[in-house]
Amino acid sequence: DSVPILPGPLTRVQRYTAKLISGPKGTLTEMPNCYLGPIIRLQKGQKVRIHFRNELMEPTITHWHGLHVPALMDGHPMYIIDPGETFVYEFEVINRSSLNIYHPHPHEMTARQVYYGLVGGLIVNDEEEAKLELPSGEYEIPIVLQDRRFNAQNQLIYGAHMHDRMMGFYGDRVLVNGRPNAEFDVASRAYRLRFLNGSNARIYKLGWSDGTPLTVIGVDGGLLESPETFPYVMLAPGERLDVWADFSGRPKGSELTMRSLPFSGVVPMMTEHRMGRGRRGGMGGRMGGMGMMGAMDLPVGSDYPLFKIRVTRETSESPMLPSRLSKIDHYTLSDVANPDKPVPIEISESPMAMLLNGRPYAFNDIQPFERIPIDTVQLLEIFHTGGHGMGHGMGGIGHGMRGRMMGMMGGGPRQEGQGMGGGMGMMFSMAHPIHLHGEPFQVISRSVSAARADAYATVKDGLISSGLKDTVLVMPGETVRLIKPFYHFKGLFMYHCHNLEHEDMGMMRDFLVE
Ligand code: C2O
Ligand code: CU
Ligand code: CU
Repeated sequence: DSVPILPGPLTRVQRYTAKLISGPKGTLTEMPNCYLGPIIRLQKGQKVRIHFRNELMEPTITHWHGLHVPALMDGHPMYIIDPGETFVYEFEVINRSSLNIYHPHPHEMTARQVYYGLVGGLIVNDEEEAKLELPSGEYEIPIVLQDRRFNAQNQLIYGAHMHDRMMGFYGDRVLVNGRPNAEFDVASRAYRLRFLNGSNARIYKLGWSDGTPLTVIGVDGGLLESPETFPYVMLAPGERLDVWADFSGRPKGSELTMRSLPFSGVVPMMTEHRMGRGRRGGMGGRMGGMGMMGAMDLPVGSDYPLFKIRVTRETSESPMLPSRLSKIDHYTLSDVANPDKPVPIEISESPMAMLLNGRPYAFNDIQPFERIPIDTVQLLEIFHTGGHGMGHGMGGIGHGMRGRMMGMMGGGPRQEGQGMGGGMGMMFSMAHPIHLHGEPFQVISRSVSAARADAYATVKDGLISSGLKDTVLVMPGETVRLIKPFYHFKGLFMYHCHNLEHEDMGMMRDFLVE
């Protein structure tokens, strides 16, 4: 019952050719019969050289998401290379143990290139982690989550139409490590599951089918200080999650499913002004379903399976979950250079474009607040515009589009003219995974406006604020404060939405560390 992904005209351009030239400890693990790039394993302290050859028919460049490397090695879009050219990366791995991502970063082409397969996992190991003797080898399973759409010939479909750009592109099938209907045969013991959300736009709410809580041992920037349990965990594009999954005591033949659980990721704009001008017909029923969005066959925020675990072997030998995992140096407000003046990252959702700080991406457009003094620790605040300037008409989009967007969000049928009508502006506010290049940060506070509290309640117990992060999911109406160090390297380091269609639309900016 599984749909094979047939090799087609695209497969030629779907592979990274990564060769680790130096460092005896670097290894590549191929993902067999899969369009994903191989998993690259590096050691903290290792010096690597990577020859990246562009065999596409268009420019590209690769970014090492999560690694802190010199600006020149960070895959900034200004370093794109043409077909046939090679970019030689050289850097020292200064990150602690963590699961990172390598993926393209050419401006306006990232989403499509990632979609067609240019993405892979990059694992850093270090001595602190090695001492813990966490499950490894066959007991450490990478889980790259992606959603895709296929045509009748089993080839990937991608098309960023206006509504796809506004919401992001969603598939109607979830692939795990490039495969549909994924199943893992396990022994009745502890495993380490290393999740990476490599989807363009889809957000997952991970939960075990039998209600077992998730035991989290790490996030984007590596291990937590100690294990923490969550009823479910939100995982947005660009985020990673390290899970201790103990199948001890489960009898041979038993099964367990990892699901994405229901949540509300999109909320309608409901100000008096807009409501007053809209047509009211059909609103009531739609509101209920507005928490969902994305491909109608698999709405985001609906309930669907991701992969199955099948216990095929019983064993009584299983490692113990360590109670202490690592030591993290916590920053506080007294460490930051700007306690009273956080660096703003304002999310603006306007009818035609999603932006950060009100400006679309452009080279050489550094604003004063985007200049960061080197070797400082900064307080940053991510927040929503709050509805200002969003009352413009949907002019060029027209009624059909409005109806379609609403239909998508509600998971219901497309109906012309059933949108909120008239001269309304952006009719929804959605969740955005905001990613910052460079060193990982710490989330110090989150708060949500009262008007968005209902949607927030469907995700809040699955947002992890401990540990080191490089991507943070910011919900509608939410304000997130974080502390981020800017050490080691001067130059341009991007910050952007990791909904890749948003990123390509210009929801991306640079910090200039100087
Ligand atoms: Cu994963 Cu700037 O990206
Ligand atoms: Cu990055
Ligand atoms: Cu976004």
